[in-house]
Amino acid sequence: MSGDGNWVKVANAEDVPAGEMIAVAIEGKNLALYHLDNGEFHATENVCTHQFALLTDGWLEDCYIECPLHAGRFDVRTGKGQGDPIDEDVRVFPVKIEDGAVLVMV
Ligand code: FES
Repeated sequence: MSGDGNWVKVANAEDVPAGEMIAVAIEGKNLALYHLDNGEFHATENVCTHQFALLTDGWLEDCYIECPLHAGRFDVRTGKGQGDPIDEDVRVFPVKIEDGAVLVMV
């Protein structure tokens, strides 16, 4: 991992139950933090790449987030758009857990 970013604490792991997500504002960015049913944490930009909507206002199902506005979907592990109307992937950020804290590299 290059040393470009900083690891920033965004939450306590226990505050985000599995299957849920939260919006976090950090260093001028709107991020979405997801806790998947399988225990993994992932982070993406929170703003949809299609138009303006917050992904955390949508629906998380397994590893997919569905945008509340036009039902575009992204794989939160990779940021890959899952077809119409999404034609641009969403940016993802590395996440790690340390001493019960969720850290995101921004
Ligand atoms: Fe997200 Fe249109 S704004 S799918």
